[in-house]
Amino acid sequence: MKLRTSGSDLSELKAGVAACFAYEGDTAPAGVRDRRLVRELAAEMKAEKFRGNRADLLSWNADGKFGSRRFLVIGLGKKGDNELDALRAGCATAARAAAAIHCKTLAVRLPPVSASKVEPAVRAAAEGVHFGSYHFDRYLTEKDRQPVHLTSALISSNGSAASIRKAAAMGSTMAGSVCLARDLVNEPPSSMNPAAMAKVAVAEGRKSGLTVKVHNRGDLVKLGFKSMLAVARGSKAEPKFVHLVYKPKIRTSKTERIVLVGKGVTFDSGGLNLKTAAGMLTMKCDMGGAAAVLGAMTALRDTGCKAEVHGLLGLVENMNNGDAYKPGDILETYAGKTVEVGNTDAEGRLVLCDLLAYAAKTLKPTAMVDLATLTGACVVALGLLATGLFTRHAALEKALLKAAGAGGEKVWPLPMFEEYLDQLQAGPADLINVGQRWGGAITAALFLGEFLPRTLPWAHLDIAGPAFCEKATAETPLGGTGAGVRTIVRWLEAM
Ligand code: BES
Ligand code: ZN
Ligand code: ZN
Repeated sequence: MKLRTSGSDLSELKAGVAACFAYEGDTAPAGVRDRRLVRELAAEMKAEKFRGNRADLLSWNADGKFGSRRFLVIGLGKKGDNELDALRAGCATAARAAAAIHCKTLAVRLPPVSASKVEPAVRAAAEGVHFGSYHFDRYLTEKDRQPVHLTSALISSNGSAASIRKAAAMGSTMAGSVCLARDLVNEPPSSMNPAAMAKVAVAEGRKSGLTVKVHNRGDLVKLGFKSMLAVARGSKAEPKFVHLVYKPKIRTSKTERIVLVGKGVTFDSGGLNLKTAAGMLTMKCDMGGAAAVLGAMTALRDTGCKAEVHGLLGLVENMNNGDAYKPGDILETYAGKTVEVGNTDAEGRLVLCDLLAYAAKTLKPTAMVDLATLTGACVVALGLLATGLFTRHAALEKALLKAAGAGGEKVWPLPMFEEYLDQLQAGPADLINVGQRWGGAITAALFLGEFLPRTLPWAHLDIAGPAFCEKATAETPLGGTGAGVRTIVRWLEAM
């Protein structure tokens, strides 16, 4: 879809569907100048008892009286109440509403904002339009079930033409990265296995100016990723470790070196501790962390990131052939610590622990963040919409929460209680990979932390809840969501 920008009034825009907005209590749409059009829409709002509540939608057929055939008014809720999120969602609603009536062109006129707020508003709107026109439909063969795709969209706002254009481009970049992560999660797990995902990482990484190195099983043996290799043993699919690097144009001795690590279990059957049918159904999403890292990496050049950024993807399948690792096995790890396998379904931490230790030792990062669909316990704690944030570094916590807020993602801090660590220090090995029943998201985070020096600013994002959407919205259809991408890109952008 082509996204264009303009400063024209809604009455001058020509599209199949033209959308504008109203706040709660408004009697006319915000930011429409043409008196005749305002009068028509205001009358329609009155007749339909349109209140401007968040996500309220009014549709009016202009019968050829204006440049666009059909007009939408979309409710933004209370003025000043998470307005950017409302705008993003509203634009997604406009895009889906246009497609629903088989229109391929959309124009939106944003409500007027002060000069400093033009860029954030246009950026959120651009993301919304892209999210609202995202479909994963490449496996639909029947014509009448194929969704209509927007071919072009236009965003009009007050403000300078250059700032509108720049903000729209930033929004398109961000949405492209999110939708790449969505596509990767949505692909069926037998297609999107570790080798296939590594291939996508090479193609997309190179397109975005990154250097990409793919390590195969032999390399992993040489590197000493013994714990990750143990997880991979139960599958025919070869594990892959992908290392992407972004280098900013200007580098000084103060340039930050960031490492992002993604859990890339392309399918999690649970291993010998087999999951239930219901529990396994969405486990193609267990590479959501790696997908988010790859997605975020592809945005860095276009968002002008000033830090050096390394993206590490740990790609394996957790399966069950005759060679599969077993409960009771004691694994060696990259760091040298031994780990008893208490449960083969707690495989993510066994992949991550090697990558984290490797990154800390060989890359000497100034900060490190991992993203992983790590625990069902985190979903129990925070529900399906929020990411759990674990860190011992207050400044990093603050920066990530700020980035999440700016990007429109829900991230919530959870504790790393030292008292729970002894749950992992019982048994014949240095660590066991599962704790007791309660607080499982915390013990998982504590486990990872044992493989890193305490001085390293590190945060763990458990995206098990939000990585996969089970209740569709205009912004996010069922399936992969790209959770984590926006938080990471915004965090790196703010550096
Ligand atoms: N991939 C799962 C976690 C998960 C659950 C992701 C639900 C997305 C949605 C992870 O590998 C896992 O199975 N964790 C176990 C850990 C347990 C055995 C300690 C879990 O959460 O049950
Ligand atoms: Zn598992
Ligand atoms: Zn898993």
